[in-house]
Amino acid sequence: MFNHIPVLLNECLSNLNIKPNGIYVDACLGGAGHSKEILKRLNSKGMLYCFDKDLEAIKIANERLSTISQNYQIIHADFKNLKEELKKFGVEKIDGILFDIGVSSYQFDTPSRGFSYKYDARLDMRMDQTQKLSAYEVINTYKEEKLAQILKDYGEEKYAKAISAKIVKSRRISPIETTFQLVDIIKSALPNKVLKEKGHPAKQVFQAIRIEVNGELTALSSAIEQALEMLNHNGRCAIITFQSLEDRIVKKLFSKACSVNDNVKGLASLTSEQSFKLVNRKPIISSNEEILANNRAHSAKLRIIEKL
Ligand SMILES: C[S@@+](CC[C@H](N)C(=O)[O-])C[C@H]1O[C@@H](n2cnc3c(N)ncnc32)[C@H](O)[C@@H]1O
Repeated sequence: MFNHIPVLLNECLSNLNIKPNGIYVDACLGGAGHSKEILKRLNSKGMLYCFDKDLEAIKIANERLSTISQNYQIIHADFKNLKEELKKFGVEKIDGILFDIGVSSYQFDTPSRGFSYKYDARLDMRMDQTQKLSAYEVINTYKEEKLAQILKDYGEEKYAKAISAKIVKSRRISPIETTFQLVDIIKSALPNKVLKEKGHPAKQVFQAIRIEVNGELTALSSAIEQALEMLNHNGRCAIITFQSLEDRIVKKLFSKACSVNDNVKGLASLTSEQSFKLVNRKPIISSNEEILANNRAHSAKLRIIEKL
């Protein structure tokens, strides 16, 4: 069963200002929670392009979308190739785009995908299962210094060096195969007082490895630049993030895009004719009711920018 409750759904729909005959992109199709509602709002001239790297998600989403209309196209690709992939369908301009980034509940909660420290599984964490690099290679082949840097940069892990040293020591004896083996190694590197703190001790390391395996932060920066360039006038780009590293990227790139207006150093790909405004100064967050119904929504932040 593909379970994923769409986060900030009404807030996304109302802020995308959907025109029934417009061209829209859902960069993170997942279980089609957002896509289904966007598609319902399009007429026969409108079109929705949906990206996902995960073939399992695409299969289910396609079944769900096909019951609504045929005005959609699913693209199995990384959204970092947004422009190039849309060009294959003759699309150079879009009226709106939504990014609901990160991992779906389905991916997290399917033990065999190896995303979660809660289930014992082979180290994997690939959103795109046709990709070669998995968590197994990162954990078993990356140099100690590189591992430490990843844990620090992508996990903001205070004990990055100690954990990397333990990983390398352990894999000299035999390869680290599973999520639970990795959890034990992480625990063995942490002081007792940290182990007693709230929250799972492996949370930050798992986040860091996942970001590395899927190239998440570099893809996001590159895709935002392309999305802003492709927007039509009055077109909007809405982005939901779930952790501070991602939100910082969105905030910085959106404010840079707006600063092009003032001839301050903006984004390389945007010309001075392309000006933007932030639709909301502060990010939109989930209501208490939404968080009660879906705990995953507790860290969600929605930012929206409009091309003028
Ligand atoms: C949070 S889920 C989206 C859920 C969806 N909005 C819904 O309500 O059903 C994120 C999805 O985006 C996909 N994804 C994440 N990063 C991606 C990337 N760089 N390129 C393509 N797909 C990506 C993941 O595989 C996952 O299925």
